Amino acid sequence: MNDGQVPKGYVLLANEKENLSFDSVKSLAQRLHFHTISEENLPSDSLPKLVLENNQWRVFTHDRKSTVGVDFFLPSFYARLSRQGFEKENVVRAVKGRNKATLPLFVLDATAGFGHDGFLLANAGCQLTMVEKNPLLAFLLAQAIHRVADSDDVIAEVASRIVFYEGDSVDIMKSWQGRRPDVVYLDPMYNTAEQEPKRGLKKTAAVKKNMAFLQQIAAHNSTAEDQRLFEAAVKIAGSKVVIKRAPGAEHLALQTPASSIEGKSARFDIYPL
Ligand SMILES: C[S@@+](CC[C@H](N)C(=O)[O-])C[C@H]1O[C@@H](n2cnc3c(N)ncnc32)[C@H](O)[C@@H]1O
Repeated sequence: MNDGQVPKGYVLLANEKENLSFDSVKSLAQRLHFHTISEENLPSDSLPKLVLENNQWRVFTHDRKSTVGVDFFLPSFYARLSRQGFEKENVVRAVKGRNKATLPLFVLDATAGFGHDGFLLANAGCQLTMVEKNPLLAFLLAQAIHRVADSDDVIAEVASRIVFYEGDSVDIMKSWQGRRPDVVYLDPMYNTAEQEPKRGLKKTAAVKKNMAFLQQIAAHNSTAEDQRLFEAAVKIAGSKVVIKRAPGAEHLALQTPASSIEGKSARFDIYPL
């Protein structure tokens, strides 16, 4: 896995046999030019380091004390999936609207990130295709979805409604074949760390940690990229595009929505087609 190139990150070997038996992490390491390394040789730089903790790959960038991963079983997130509250989530209200169709709404979450919004939508009965372009985040997210799908927990059924792809959703939308999504959901990142807390999440320690991690590993979109996302979404969506923004933030690609659902920490702009 050490390819002679300057490493862009590391895979931490706790137990060589165990770590190397994961084909997906091997192929990720090759693609990203991550080097395998043992604990005693671990550099204290800020490059991402993948480590296996309780059978899940997580990442840390500086010290081992705080790792970041994707885990839908985390109690704070799992609680949001409970039957009583889930239809009241603003993301669900914005995407489902008054849809009374008997067929499950087909939603493309074109900026999947940590997969939280997408998972909430799948939990509310939507059929989800999620796309994430950052390979490291895509790896963590795919792992989290598989973990749920392979579990005997009630939420395994939620994971069965999710199809996940790593890639650029603009390219995927442009070459789309088959049934078009009813709704395209977008939640691109703000372009500076200072603006990112405005994106619409409560600033708990875990959320701050995830945001800082995102800022470190995922490049923010330029205005032109946001424009491309918006245009591709409008072309492919069957009934609407929904965009998550911060309260008071400018509209994505400066497009005025028909309506918005305003929450304390996020605004959902709705573009019916
Ligand atoms: C703010 S996060 C999304 C958070 C997500 N809504 C959640 O609930 O966890 C934005 C993500 O969009 C991804 N992204 C931005 N443009 C993209 C594109 N064109 N295709 C796929 N992913 C994209 C970024 O890599 C980043 O991980």
